[in-house]
Amino acid sequence: MTQTQPTTALTDAVAFPPGFVWGAATAAYQIEGAAAEDGRRPSIWDTFSHTPGMVANGDHGDVACDHYHRMPEDVALMAELGLASYRFSVSWARVRPDGGPVNAAGLAFYDRLVDELLGHGIAPWLTLYHWDLPQVLEDRGGWTVRDTAYRFADYAESVYDVLGDRVPTWTTLNEPWCSAFLGYTSGDHAPGRQEGAIGLVAAHHLLLGHGLALDALRGRDDVRWGISLNCTVADPVSDEAVHLDAARRIDGLHNRLFLDAVLRGHYPADVIEDTAHLGWYHAVHDGDLALISAPIDVLGLNYYHGDAVSGSPTNRQATNHHGLEVPRGVSPFPSAEHVTVVPRDLPRTAMDWEVQPDGLRRLLVRVHDDYSPPPIYVTETGAAYVDRLVDGRVEDPDRLAFLDSYLRAVHDAIAQGVDVGGVFAWSFLDNFEWAYGYDKRFGLVHVDYETQRRTPKSSGLWYAQVARTNVVST
Ligand code: NOJ
Repeated sequence: MTQTQPTTALTDAVAFPPGFVWGAATAAYQIEGAAAEDGRRPSIWDTFSHTPGMVANGDHGDVACDHYHRMPEDVALMAELGLASYRFSVSWARVRPDGGPVNAAGLAFYDRLVDELLGHGIAPWLTLYHWDLPQVLEDRGGWTVRDTAYRFADYAESVYDVLGDRVPTWTTLNEPWCSAFLGYTSGDHAPGRQEGAIGLVAAHHLLLGHGLALDALRGRDDVRWGISLNCTVADPVSDEAVHLDAARRIDGLHNRLFLDAVLRGHYPADVIEDTAHLGWYHAVHDGDLALISAPIDVLGLNYYHGDAVSGSPTNRQATNHHGLEVPRGVSPFPSAEHVTVVPRDLPRTAMDWEVQPDGLRRLLVRVHDDYSPPPIYVTETGAAYVDRLVDGRVEDPDRLAFLDSYLRAVHDAIAQGVDVGGVFAWSFLDNFEWAYGYDKRFGLVHVDYETQRRTPKSSGLWYAQVARTNVVST
């Protein structure tokens, strides 16, 4: 297992390159609320979260952080925190609620948001798809049907027609691994389907949507295009062949399936071979991979933790968050089949995820070395901890230490020659953490959901200082 030590001691102040972008990120369904306003219709997450048993505490995004109504005050708070850029997503279900004609009232919200950001000197960074497919498209097969990729390109064009003149950076998809495998194989996420092989078909159609959107819009203006992938670092528990093979399989489905397609124009041969029995490859048509691998200008990587994995045979049937058995035959995540995650002696966040900053450094160096990508941005990193609002303050030393160590890991990667242009903390606000509901708080800013009052946490104030000085120091 490769665990090298960071090159800087935690107490050293480390300066980032001039122009390094300090940002924060959110996603539409997680913060906006206003689920039925101005023509918005249900997305798969509305349906899923209103299905009993799918989300902790029966939580849903009907109101969330009420950002739809509080947007100007939220942007003012971003400016107070010194954010140079704000990464947000557009809700497809507001813009083309029925999967068909454009709903101008829904699109107008993002028009106002972008102007508000620019008015505060904050660069908008727009994600077109952060998991909230219009339900009507899911009813027609969702990402398992090819037509959804074409509908995505149409939707991308309608957003671009209105915002292309003011948004400098566009990412098509956020974490397609999650949309595909948590949505269609394990059923942890909306639409909650558990159909094995169709996760791979969905992954291909998501990537095809990325390629079709680029094909339609590339070159229309001087904007940057990219995609955000959630890559992992899979460490075999030892050098025994069985464990090396487990790590290879996780790396294949989690990382290389997406990185190879986007940056090399083919799916990895070993993944195709491992999954041949699933018969998904018929979904890949001639010309698809040429579209998917059209040049991008930025590569977004989201990183929270890696895992130590073991390939020792186990009879344990994998189950998802909801206690439902996950179909055998494809291993989209470490708990499936004969791949198990082995806990390491590392601290953990409230998500039970390992705090593993050196994994981020290793991921950045590996992607740089193997793929020679365009500039990389860490489009998400952050941590959930149990926060308490006491006398109007939230002291969150664990999150601060987490961010400090992960930012130092980014600095170490830059020192090793990786071109990293910026970091977006996840998240600007506490928000709806998908199947975990509102219990898991990732924000730099605390949200009191009873009053919708925002309170910057001590980590948020520290991050503001980092953003202002371009230096990480504790
Ligand atoms: C990745 C996702 O993009 C985001 O929506 C989610 O809240 C964070 N990870 C934390 O789980």
